[in-house]
Parts: sequence; structure tokens; C-alpha cells
Amino acid sequence: MQNLAVGIDKMDFYAPGYFVDMANLAQARGVDPKKFNEGIGQDQMAVPPITQDIVTMGANAADFLTEEDKAAIDMVLVGTESGIDQSKSSAVYIHHLLGIQPFARSVELKEACYSATAALHLGLDYVRTHPERKVLVVASDIARYGLETSGEATQGAGAVAILLAANPRLALVDPDSAFMTEDVMDFWRPNYTDKAMVDGKLSLRQYTHVLEQVWDKYQAETGLTLDDFEAVCFHLPYTKMGLKGLRRLMKGASDEKKDSLRTYFEASEQYSRRIGNVYTGSLYLSLISLLDQAEGLKAGDRIGMYSYGSGSVGEFFSLILADDFQAGQDKAAHEAFLDQREEISVDRYEALFNDVLPTDGSELTLTAEHPSETYYVQGIADHQRHYAKR
Ligand code: HMG
Repeated sequence: MQNLAVGIDKMDFYAPGYFVDMANLAQARGVDPKKFNEGIGQDQMAVPPITQDIVTMGANAADFLTEEDKAAIDMVLVGTESGIDQSKSSAVYIHHLLGIQPFARSVELKEACYSATAALHLGLDYVRTHPERKVLVVASDIARYGLETSGEATQGAGAVAILLAANPRLALVDPDSAFMTEDVMDFWRPNYTDKAMVDGKLSLRQYTHVLEQVWDKYQAETGLTLDDFEAVCFHLPYTKMGLKGLRRLMKGASDEKKDSLRTYFEASEQYSRRIGNVYTGSLYLSLISLLDQAEGLKAGDRIGMYSYGSGSVGEFFSLILADDFQAGQDKAAHEAFLDQREEISVDRYEALFNDVLPTDGSELTLTAEHPSETYYVQGIADHQRHYAKR
């Protein structure tokens, strides 16, 4: 059991203050709203203003850190595929904005939506050998496919911040894990564009293929079966994709087990339905949603976690809910946070989508407009982004 005594101590998310209703987007695109609401499984899509990037969203998500946490953090690991710089890590900016003690490592990791899971395991390995110290993992992304593209309904933006520690309050992370890499061109983003390129149908097949591979390997190596899991969380590029994954895992399960897993899945998809794809943070947003929204979970329950990043890397691992896991979550605050966002029209969403920072060295000064933007992009000058806290 000593191996299991590290995990997630605290966790929270941030999403931009603006969203578009998927039924309105469907109407504007001449699509049956049921396609987006049921076929894709999304109700709202977060829209980031120009004042929010992966740094500010990550810092906003990690705003829960206490001074004691900041003094104990030895590593800031940011998983992202929406990097703002080819050289300087977003983790360095986040480290500075949050005021984390200076003798820390700050690094950015990349492999599509998977990299936060790599960061989680790297961070836990560090905590296992330094049990008095902590690691901050931030998953922060803006999912951009482009206006009027087939991927448009699967966009979103947001961040999840996870504090790793020994004897964690929320969940222990089981070191047993099954992972794989397979070089596939299902989704990618060359350096010269800020919009993802995707072979949509191939991406669905690859997500499912990798899930089957790592799930089989996990079961063979651990001896665990679906009956050992109370719930399973999925990477949710859109919620219907996770449901398709769950259906694969449930093949052959009893009706009672299927009903129970479906109920937990519905709890885990609530926040993603209202935010959209947050790429690296998506799996962890579904975990927060599960812990907030599910009824009947108890300490000691095992939660399956399927992480998938296009390209592709996937992993299946599990968490054990800690004794105090309920005290660590705040359903009312999370729901209030989502409710205080402002609904915008499709025209405004399109304007925000096209409103980007200058790339020619010219200056722009910005002020945060939405109250949720504790940290925001204050402007750009000489090709340098400037950040502020209000
Ligand atoms: P599409 O071609 O617009 O949609 O693209 P479709 O025709 O396949 O329809 C989607 C679903 O809506 C289908 O359901 C339809 O039947 C249903 P399904 O058969 O799949 O169960 N539908 C309706 N339902 C009710 N009423 C209606 C109706 N009409 C249709 N009237 C696609 C969809 C997801 C391919 C596209 O949006 C896309 O390319 N998105 C981006 C890629 C993506 O999200 N892939 C997911 C797996 S890869 C992954 O997860 C990694 C990723 O996060 C990136 C990373 O790792 O960094 C993306």
C-alpha cells in the first residue's frame, strides 16, 4: 500500500467567462440542434476572449493554492498543445504569476491531449521520493478547429490545476498503468497555424483502438476487471466520444453494472457538456465533474481513467478515492462558476475567434472584462506577452 500513498491532494478548473449555446451555433450553421446536443453531446462551448491564453487560464485554475502549498511546490509541469512560445515554457510564467518558491523546476510537456497524464505520473514519481514536497500539474488548452469546419462543434477552452502530494486528500493514484504509442495522423497542428488539422473519422477509430489495447493490457497485467471499478472517466473531446468508449468497456458486463457505470458517466460528463474540449485537461475535468455530481461514491472506490492524445499516445490507469475526498470538492462553487459565465451570440463568438494578438511586434494594451479573469493578458509589446493579476 505504500506505493499508493501519493496522489491528487487538490484540484480545480477554470473556463473562460463566455460561452455560446450549441443550439444557436447549430441554427447558424444550418444543422439540426439535436446533432450537437445529442449526436455530439455538447450543450455549450466556452469561448476565450483575447485576454485569456494557456498561461492565464492555468493560473486562474490554480488560484486555490495556499502560501504553504506554494512554499512546498518543487515542480510546475504544464501539459498543453496550445503553446504560446517555441522556447519559453508556459510553466515559467505560471510559476511567476502564482508566486511559487523560486527553487522549482518549471517545464511544459506536449503530446496532444495526453501530456497532462505524463506530467501527473512524472510528478507522482517525484513525490514518492520526496514525500514532504508537492508538484503542481496544470493542463491548459484552447481547442480551435476554425469557423464552419466539421470540428467546430468540438471546440472549447479551459484549464485544470492539480496539486500532487503524499497522503492526498482527494485520491491515491495506483502506479499500475497500461500505456502505448502508435504513430497515426489523426490530428495535428503544424507550427504555422493556430488551428488543428484533423482526420475526424480516423481520430474516432484511433481513440477506440487505443482504449481497447490499453484496457486489455491493463486487465492482463493487474488482474482487475470492470467489476473492480466503481466508475470510469474518459478523455472527452466531446461527451458522446466518452460514451462510445464506455460502451466498448461494458461489453459483456451485467445489466446492473452497465446501469451503474452509465449513471456515473452522466455525472462525469456534466462540466464538459458546458465547456467543450479542453484537450489536456479534459479527462481531469470529467473527474472533477464525477466527484461533484455523482451520488454514492465512497472512500476506497476505484475510478478508471482513460487518457488519449491524438498522434497517438493513450493510457489506462486508476485512482482510489481517499478518506476525505468529499471535503476536497465544492459542487456548489463549481456550478456557480459555470452559471456566472456570459452567454454570447454566434456573431460575438466569431468576432472573439478572429480577435488575436498581433504577431508583427506592434503593441496592444488590454484590460480584463470578465470578472472571472483574476489573471489576464495585459498586452503585448516587442513580441513579449505581459500578464497581470487584478
Ligand atoms: P461530423 O462529420 O460533423 O459528424 O463530425 P457526424 O456526421 O459523424 O455526426 C456526429 C454524430 O451526430 C453521429 O453520432 C451522428 O449519427 C449524430 P454517432 O453515429 O457517432 O453516434 N447525428 C445526429 N444525432 C441526433 N440528431 C441528428 C443528428 N445528425 C447527426 N439530427 C466529428 C464529427 C467528431 C468527426 C468532428 O466534429 C471532428 O472531427 N471533431 C474533432 C476530432 C475529435 O474530436 N475526435 C475525437 C477523437 S480524437 C481525440 O479525442 C483527441 C483530440 O481531443 C485531440 C488531441 O488529442 O489533442 C481531438
